[in-house]
Amino acid sequence: MVKHDIKDSSLASAGKKRIEWADNDMPVLRKIREKFSEDKPLMGKKMSACLHVTAETANLARTLQAGGADLVLIASNPLSTQDDVAASLVADYGISVFAIRGEDNQTYYKHVRAAIEHDPVITMDDGADLVATLHAEYPQKCAQVLGSMEETTTGVIRLRAMHKDKALHIPVIAVNDAETKYLFDNRYGTGQSTVDGIIRATDFLIAGKKVVVAGYGWCGKGFSSRMKGMGANVIICEVDPIKALEAAMDGFMVMPMMEAAKVGDLFCTITGDIHVLRKEHFELMKDGAIIANSGHFNVEIKIGDLEELAVEKTVNVRNYVDRYKMKDGRSLYLLADGRLINLAAAEGHPASVMDMSFATQALATAYALENKLDIGVHDVPEEIEDWISRAKLESMGVRIDELTEEQKKYLASWQMGT
Ligand SMILES: NC(=O)c1ccc[n+]([C@@H]2O[C@H](COP(=O)([O-])OP(=O)(O)OC[C@H]3O[C@@H](n4cnc5c(N)ncnc54)[C@H](O)[C@@H]3O)[C@@H](O)[C@H]2O)c1
Repeated sequence: MVKHDIKDSSLASAGKKRIEWADNDMPVLRKIREKFSEDKPLMGKKMSACLHVTAETANLARTLQAGGADLVLIASNPLSTQDDVAASLVADYGISVFAIRGEDNQTYYKHVRAAIEHDPVITMDDGADLVATLHAEYPQKCAQVLGSMEETTTGVIRLRAMHKDKALHIPVIAVNDAETKYLFDNRYGTGQSTVDGIIRATDFLIAGKKVVVAGYGWCGKGFSSRMKGMGANVIICEVDPIKALEAAMDGFMVMPMMEAAKVGDLFCTITGDIHVLRKEHFELMKDGAIIANSGHFNVEIKIGDLEELAVEKTVNVRNYVDRYKMKDGRSLYLLADGRLINLAAAEGHPASVMDMSFATQALATAYALENKLDIGVHDVPEEIEDWISRAKLESMGVRIDELTEEQKKYLASWQMGT
């Protein structure tokens, strides 16, 4: 059996069913897997991937394996691993997995180190913990890395900051910044699965509630519009004037958090920023307010302030719900320890949207191996995005028009005016 550190091997058969179910809705990735099986573009290459260990990720791992990669998969968040999927990957597909749902910080980083000690030439990250640890603790191994794919906004922000500080020593591809990723995964995937996570954790009726969303980026837009569609009165808090204007013209109320804190029934942060909800906001919140985060790290809600303000904390008043009782008698409810609620309390993004994100990951990986990339943060090539969007449309039975020769010429010229 391949090397692994997982919760329970006996969960494999349940995991296999979930992997196969997700695969039904991942036609583009399947197509790439078939092609990879024939062409073997990753043959013999050592790879380490630090991603949410879900059924969809399992299908990406199968695709990389079909391409010939020698893969180690670890979790990119302590609370997002699906233990049955991890078990099946090891038992049914012979893929090395180091991930246990609920692992503590020490185990999380032990797994990150195991992935680096695999000596990868290609890495994949969701939040940049793997790349950051590689640079901090194993700088001598950076030279062998030909490319690293980054899955999420927070990771790309960290990597660009590393590059700006001249601290980045490997080539990176910003998979998150591909339109085939963020326009669909962040908007529709995070949008729907964040609603799902909140409902599974609380069984809360959305209709008629005041839902405060911090961050009107791609994830925030998706979540807000879904909440609005279910009958919530959505309030947006932003720091970017353009995003705030967009939210106002999309029909949402926009106000500072100090005002929203007084009226919200449910708060959800999706900013990628730190301490967006903190003491001065908790002090104003109504009795019964529910607080969740769907941004990458659990720093958006300043949990230390909640702990300080509370006179009593009750863990698990319901699965994934902790109650903080304030000295004035109010109860505030924190979901999933402030970790991304869609992966902690639900199953993460639906397979159909991960189909595009992971198709982008797989093709970007082959591209990084075929082309010697310079150190820095690179975009996904346009041809890859074009191929993926056409393949997805085809799988949906949607056809589109094509430019005529006359139109191509017109669009490339400047002479013709009024
Ligand atoms: N839960 C998931 O599965 C999932 C999926 C994709 C991305 N993410 C994460 O979600 C976060 C947001 O991603 P995105 O793609 O929407 O990013 P984005 O850059 O498109 O949007 C973030 C928005 O937050 C706003 N913001 C920043 N600080 C703020 C503050 N203090 N108060 C209010 N607004 C603030 C920014 O102005 C911006 O409009 C990132 O951490 C990303 O990694 C999570």
